[in-house]
Amino acid sequence: IELFGLFAKSFWGATAARRFLAPSPPMSPDDIRGPCPGLNTLASHGYLPRNGVATPTQIINAVQEGFNMDSSTARFVTYAAHLVDGNLVTDLLSIGGKTRKTGPDPPAPASVAGLNTHAVFEGDSSMTRADFFFGDNHSLNETLFKQFKDFSNRFGGGFYNLTVAQELRHQRIQESIATNPTFDFTSPRFFTAFAESSFPIEFFVDGRNPVRALSMDNATLFFRDSKFPVDFFRAAEPTGGTLALEIFNAHPIAAGKNVNGINTFTPDPTSADFSSFCLLYTNFVTKTIGGLYPNPTGVLRRNLIINLGFLYDAIDGVGCTELFPYGKL
Ligand code: HEM
Ligand code: MG
Repeated sequence: IELFGLFAKSFWGATAARRFLAPSPPMSPDDIRGPCPGLNTLASHGYLPRNGVATPTQIINAVQEGFNMDSSTARFVTYAAHLVDGNLVTDLLSIGGKTRKTGPDPPAPASVAGLNTHAVFEGDSSMTRADFFFGDNHSLNETLFKQFKDFSNRFGGGFYNLTVAQELRHQRIQESIATNPTFDFTSPRFFTAFAESSFPIEFFVDGRNPVRALSMDNATLFFRDSKFPVDFFRAAEPTGGTLALEIFNAHPIAAGKNVNGINTFTPDPTSADFSSFCLLYTNFVTKTIGGLYPNPTGVLRRNLIINLGFLYDAIDGVGCTELFPYGKL
């Protein structure tokens, strides 16, 4: 069974994406897209509902089928996003802006406003999207995408590779420090920024290509058009964020924020960083989710407990202490 598993992984791993790949029809004006080029592409090709509103299970299945994201990463990221941006009663999450399609809202301060929501998951110094301070934090920004291509030319010979990821991540952080008075680079953004810089290498490069470098033509399809290249093969084995630490190590920086306008970046020792992964989980549950749901009751409380359980399941084995802020079922 083990052997067959290995065989199946290497064989089907490189072909499954093609088996399910559907052509991408023109978008309807009602279709929602957002800050994540991966999920946008999956929605455009029907791995996710094309309207951009999905359940956590649909998202987990889609990122595995379409990109071969590993199960733990897929589950952790998806339930983290769902807990802060999704509707926990209807079990629906918008991959972009707020919509009535996720159903009736729970009481404030919960917002259920989709992945575009700033600061709970989406954050500053994205590669191809502007900081929330400047307005649109979710559409492709042509100036930033030009910089993405310039860096790929200068550091990657025309391709986005690990060196480009390292240099561009550093550049975007320095730009935000120097231009965004509200720049916040604390957890969870601290982690997602480095992980997402690795995703184009891990997921957008064709699985048959041993050289992990993304062409600008294909980068344009994913980042701008939300489309798979023709004849695309997903990653050959499950992966997710494994290059994040290497990207961080090229230009290490403490988690922190601009505390008093531009160029006042100050480390925040209460934030998690790569030396304190469990603090990411702890702060996210107690501060971020706790801030949105101070006093839930009924089905909402029950579903918070259930979804917090799924979030912890994804990192079971890392050795963090499981938290039960809303009790147990
Ligand atoms: C960015 C959500 C999976 C590629 C983002 C952002 C969110 C998000 C909210 C915006 C963060 C920011 O830049 O401020 C999710 C969720 C996923 C998921 C909930 C569920 C597993 C994926 C996958 C890929 C991907 C599978 C690649 C195939 C990216 C990239 C960015 C990004 C490259 C950075 C965009 C940029 O910096 O310009 N994602 N994502 N994501 N995501 Fe995803
Ligand atoms: Mg952002």
